[in-house]
Amino acid sequence: MHQLNLSKNTEKKLINTFSYQTFAQKLLEPATFDYFAGASSDEITLKANQTDFQNLKIVPSMLNDVSNINLKTTILGTTIATPIMLAPVAFQSLAYPNGEIETAKASSLLKTIMILSTLSTTSLEDVVKFNPEFSWFQLYVFQDKKINLDLITRAKEAGYKAIVVTVDSQYSGKRERDWLNNFNLPNHLKLANLTNYQFAKSQNKTSSWLHNFIDDNYDKSFTWNDLESLINSAQLPVFIKGILNVNDAHKAKSIGASGIIISNHGGRSIDTAITSIQALENIGSKVNSPEFVIILDSGIRRGTDIFKALALGAKAVCIGRPYIWGLAIEKAQGVVKIVDILNAELTTTMGLAGVNDVNKITSEYLSHA
Ligand code: GLV
Repeated sequence: MHQLNLSKNTEKKLINTFSYQTFAQKLLEPATFDYFAGASSDEITLKANQTDFQNLKIVPSMLNDVSNINLKTTILGTTIATPIMLAPVAFQSLAYPNGEIETAKASSLLKTIMILSTLSTTSLEDVVKFNPEFSWFQLYVFQDKKINLDLITRAKEAGYKAIVVTVDSQYSGKRERDWLNNFNLPNHLKLANLTNYQFAKSQNKTSSWLHNFIDDNYDKSFTWNDLESLINSAQLPVFIKGILNVNDAHKAKSIGASGIIISNHGGRSIDTAITSIQALENIGSKVNSPEFVIILDSGIRRGTDIFKALALGAKAVCIGRPYIWGLAIEKAQGVVKIVDILNAELTTTMGLAGVNDVNKITSEYLSHA
C-alpha cells in the first residue's frame, strides 16, 4: 500500500479523475476500495449520476473575451478559489493515514471548503487546526439528542463555520459490496468524534458493521419540526444535505436553512433515486436566491459536469470519491491535484463555451431539447 514515489510514467497517466480511480484501486485493500467506490443495491443511481451529466448538452457562445477566467465565488461571506468543495466522506484514514488531516491541509492550500464527516477518524477539534477558514461540519442525526447537541456545540467552539445536516440516511442503503466484504473498521481506527458517547449495541443484522451502526443509531423519527428547532438553536448557519425533491427544497428555505446540498449520497442511499443533476434541474430555478445557497453533490467527474451544475443554479459543487482517490495516491498533494485537474477542465469548458466567470454561467449555455 502507498507507494508514494510515483514513477514518471504513472504520473503522466494521472490526467483525470478516472485514471486516479484506476490507480487508487491498485493501492487500496479491496474492501476499502469497495467501501469508497461502491453504492447501494444495483448501483443504478451511482452510474446514472454520471450518465445524466453526459446526456445534458452544452451550447457554447462564440467570440466572447475569455482571456481571463474567474473561478472564485463567495459562500456565506467566505471567498473560495474554486466552486469545487470537498464533500463529507467517512473514514478517510482508510484511504491514507490521518486522511482527514491530509484533506484539511489540501482544503487550506486550495482555499476551498471541506465538510468534515461525523464519521471522521480524527476528531473534529484536531482536523480544524489545518483549515480553520474553510471548515464546515457534517452531522448525522442520532437517536440520542444529547449527542447531536454536543457535536454542534463542539463544532462551534472549535471554529467550524457551518453545520451540514445529512437527511438521507435514516436507514442505511443496501451496500452489497460491504456486506460481502464484512466491512468493518480495523482496530487501529476509531470514530474519533464519537468516543465519548454511548451507542446502541449493534444487532449484527448484516455483515456490514457500518450498516448495522446506521440502522441502530441514526434517528428515524427526525422530521422538519425537529430540524427547524435544530436550526434555531445551532448558532451557526445550517445546510441540509440530501435534498432531491422541490417541495423539500421550499421547506428547507422556509425553516431558515442557509442552503441545501442536492445529493443522493453518491448513489449510496436509495438506489434508482433521481440523479442529482436532474433534481437540480427541477429545483434550481424555483428556489434560487442570493440568500439561499444551492450546492450539488453526487456524480461530478469532469469540469463539464461542474459547468452544467452551475448553469442550472448551483453556486458550487461537492466532490467525494475523486478526491479520495487523490488522497489514497498522494495524500494532501493528491487531493490538490484532483481539484487542479477539475479546475483546469472547468476553465477550458468555460473558455470554449464563451463565459469568463463562474458566477455568470446560466442555463442559456445548455440545450434543454
Ligand atoms: C458514510 O457516510 C457513507 O456514506 O458511507
